Amino acid sequence: MTFQLPNELQNEDSIRLELRSWPEVDDYLQHCKGVILPIGSTEQHGPTGAIGTDAITAEGVAIEVGRRTGVLVAPIQSYGMAEHHLGFSGTMSLTPSTLLAVLHDLILSLARNGFERIFVINGHGGNSATAKAAFAQAYSSAATKRLQVAPSLRCKLSNWFMAGSVFREAHRLYGAREGQHATPSEIAVSFFLEPSLLSKKKPLPDSHQAGPIYGPDDFRTRYPDGRMGSDPFLAKPEHGALLLEKAASCLSDELIGFLNES
Ligand code: NI
Repeated sequence: MTFQLPNELQNEDSIRLELRSWPEVDDYLQHCKGVILPIGSTEQHGPTGAIGTDAITAEGVAIEVGRRTGVLVAPIQSYGMAEHHLGFSGTMSLTPSTLLAVLHDLILSLARNGFERIFVINGHGGNSATAKAAFAQAYSSAATKRLQVAPSLRCKLSNWFMAGSVFREAHRLYGAREGQHATPSEIAVSFFLEPSLLSKKKPLPDSHQAGPIYGPDDFRTRYPDGRMGSDPFLAKPEHGALLLEKAASCLSDELIGFLNES
C-alpha cells in the first residue's frame, strides 16, 4: 500500500494512540500500517538539565512527526538504558536485557494486530544498541509465533539528534560546546517544549571533555557534574524551536520513505 500524506497538519489529539478507541485503530490500519514509538530515558542531564530531557524531546519530535504525517504515535517509553548515569540522583534505568524485553513485547503487541512498520524515535544514544537487538528478537519471535505480519514486519530506529540537519545546526550554533551529554541542543528543545525548565538555566564552569563511558562510579569520576563537554547555558528556546522543526522535517521524510519501502 502506498502511503498517503495528509493535506494538512493533524491535531495532536487525533494522532495519539492512547486517545484512540480500538475500532478507530482498526479503521486506521485499513489505510496505514505504520506507528511511531518514541523512546527516551529518565536520567541526569547535568546540574541545570531536566531528568526527563530525553523523554520530553523524543516525545515532542514524535508528536510533531505524527502531526505532519498523520501516523499514530504510541505512548512514550520513558525509561531507557541509563546504567552509566546511576551515580546521579533521579536517574531511573532499565538494564539492557530489561529494555530489550520491553521493546520486544511492545513491538510484538503492535504486530499482533497488524502494524507492520514500527518507527522508533529515540532521544537517548544509550538505547540504540539495545533497541536494535530488540528488533532482531522481534523479527524472530514474529516468525516463530507465525504472526500474519511476520514477513513484512520492519522496525527502524531514528535518533532525532543525529538527523543530518539537526546535527549540522547544533554544531553551527554551539560548535565544540555542543559536547556529548546534556548538550545545549537537547536542552534548547526541552526549553521550547517545557518553558518552566528555563528557570534552571545558569552559567556553569567548563565541562570535563567527552571521553569513554563505563560504569556509574567511573562516569561520575570522569564527569563530576554529569556533563560531557557541553555548555547547556548556550541553549535558548528559539534554538529549540528551530531544532525541533529540522528534526520533524527530516524524520517525517525518513518515515514516509520507510512506510513506502517495498
Ligand atoms: Ni540526553
